[in-house]
Amino acid sequence: MIARANTIVPFTGAGISTECGIPDFRSPGGIWTRNRPIQFDEFVASQSARDESWRRRFAMEDVFAAAKPGRGHRALASLHRAGKIPAVITQNIDNLHQASGFAPDCVIELHGNTTYARCIGCGQVYQLDWVKRRFDQDGAAPDCSACEEPVKTATISFGQAMPEDEMQRATELSQSCDLFIAIGSSLVVWPAAGFPMMAKNSGARLVIINREPTEQDDIADLVIRHDIGETLGPFVGN
Ligand code: OAD
Ligand code: ZN
Repeated sequence: MIARANTIVPFTGAGISTECGIPDFRSPGGIWTRNRPIQFDEFVASQSARDESWRRRFAMEDVFAAAKPGRGHRALASLHRAGKIPAVITQNIDNLHQASGFAPDCVIELHGNTTYARCIGCGQVYQLDWVKRRFDQDGAAPDCSACEEPVKTATISFGQAMPEDEMQRATELSQSCDLFIAIGSSLVVWPAAGFPMMAKNSGARLVIINREPTEQDDIADLVIRHDIGETLGPFVGN
């Protein structure tokens, strides 16, 4: 299917990064089996929710800082260089598609990016080092120096608006590809989980690669219930 396709759009979830040492959300030991998500309105309303959110982020810093692209990321980057993949749609926030060789423009981040921070008021970008220094100094999550609104990782939390440009580009890609491959996602979080179905309804073939069954296996043309690194490893080129 990969050989025959002209335009492949991969759609990735946390499962592509587990071999890089980053836990997923819903497998045993996953993030949401250990912590309850902090909703966006809680983050906005409560200093203690912001402190807790940043404590969780700092606790993961060594994991994110050490993570290198896995076989899945590298295989997709090879197919990108070969001209088969115009861009990757991802729910991941770990920056590993960029690290594997996709230009920033070619990574559609539906749920943002956790490797930097942003003011939720004016959008000012902050490096995590700055946040950490301020947190250590004041013992609390910092506010923006420009507008005094809270500073948050540049991710999309539950209850937060989806990024419009990314949703638009993901829609166009899903509607124009001839092969759509969902990789390492339980496909339960909407609206992101709507893209596989959108691609299928627009005439693409749909492949799902995931260790566990997903909610959309029944509409797929092919389901590969196997390890991602092993499945995509043969496509890692130079
Ligand atoms: P999930 O944790 O829901 O699903 C990851 C899937 O990857 C699971 O079904 C695993 O079985 C599978 N998996 C893990 N490692 C694998 C491997 N090596 N090979 C094959 N399969 C593997 O993560 P997502 O679907 O990405 O959003 O979660 C979607 C969204 O929920 C996230 O973007 C995040 C989360 O809450 C927000 O927080 C807004
Ligand atoms: Zn601001």
